[in-house]
Amino acid sequence: RAQSDPAISVQPWMQELGDGVDAAPYGVPSPFEADVKRRNVEWLTADPVSSVNFTPLHDLDGIITPNGLCFERHHSGVARVDPAQHRLMIHGLVERPLVFTMEDLKRFPRENHVYSLECAANSGMEWRGAQLNGCQFTHGMIHNVMYTGIPLRLLLEEAGVGTEGKWLLAEGADAAAMTRSIPMEKALDDCLVAFKMNGEALRPEQGYPLRLVVPGWEGNMWVKWLRRLEVGDQPWHHREETSKYTDLLEDGTARRFTWEMDAKSVITNPSPQAPITHGPGPTVLTGLAWSGRGTIPRVDVTLDGGKNWQEARIDGPSLPKSLHRFYFEFDWDGSPLLLQSRAHDSTGYVQPTKAELRAFRGVNSIYHNNGIQTWAVAADGSAENVEIS
Ligand code: MTE
Ligand code: CO
Repeated sequence: RAQSDPAISVQPWMQELGDGVDAAPYGVPSPFEADVKRRNVEWLTADPVSSVNFTPLHDLDGIITPNGLCFERHHSGVARVDPAQHRLMIHGLVERPLVFTMEDLKRFPRENHVYSLECAANSGMEWRGAQLNGCQFTHGMIHNVMYTGIPLRLLLEEAGVGTEGKWLLAEGADAAAMTRSIPMEKALDDCLVAFKMNGEALRPEQGYPLRLVVPGWEGNMWVKWLRRLEVGDQPWHHREETSKYTDLLEDGTARRFTWEMDAKSVITNPSPQAPITHGPGPTVLTGLAWSGRGTIPRVDVTLDGGKNWQEARIDGPSLPKSLHRFYFEFDWDGSPLLLQSRAHDSTGYVQPTKAELRAFRGVNSIYHNNGIQTWAVAADGSAENVEIS
């Protein structure tokens, strides 16, 4: 092929000067990458203002999600906050109620941590069967970012939290005034009040200028446009922890306060939006695995729907409560495949099959679906979302 390939000859871009350094003071991706974007599923929500879009996981590699591709979920649209007018208030059961400006906050010691945020509703549409055709839609309510922020503990200590302060209410400055109750133990453990993501200011969609980071816990608790923290002695039972973000079981009772995100994984390539186009031979399979409880020491992959499992190769940093990248290189013989991945986390927990999950939780849930995903790859390389028993 090398000798007959016209692309080896001199191309137009070798025959003209390119743009100078002033053409894009804030860089943008190559126009040839225009297909790499967040996508919405129109029928999922009544209105794009209170809606969700999805991270294009099949177009990414490594573990970090670029800021412009982080999925967005907002209940009342993106608040347009002027940082000069933004305040963070701490009140309730504290010795000294405090109000911080952004400048005040930037005088506290900072930390940097990579954490994944997964919406509890990620894969929620798949509870009763295979539904959406692409890992962007089945698993794309997740992003993985390096946050720069202040340990929440330092701000709570500054305000003086006593032993009667058992719970914390976090409220956002958007029109939804999103509010969640967080146990004080978690607030004092590893939560951050973040103002940077991947080195730059938070994007408006992600809560500019300030967001709460609640590592390993469901995305709904990561309050964006954070404006108020109230210390109390019991949870508030607001909408997002009663009518929403609870799981109705078969016996009519509901699980509540299901904060931690269980271990989960997905093969991002091949997948319905990323078919095998090169034919039989050397093939790179890759995917993501994560756990709200720690790291991922092991991922297994099967090509035949679970008859034979082999260990995948994890590459890149293995950080707690962060995405992990895995690879499995194989020689494809061109026959149909049933691809699955299975994550093991550092607590010893193993990702369940969807059947195992349903046996335990029934079929009424939306949230917390961490079941094993199957892609059926046909002989022509195309891939489809399926379920096998
Ligand atoms: N915070 C506020 N203030 N308003 C919101 O609508 N949505 C929550 C959470 N924090 C929300 C919010 C939900 S349900 C999720 S999954 C995450 O933010 C989404 O974060 P992202 O938009 O950065 O992906
Ligand atoms: Co959510």
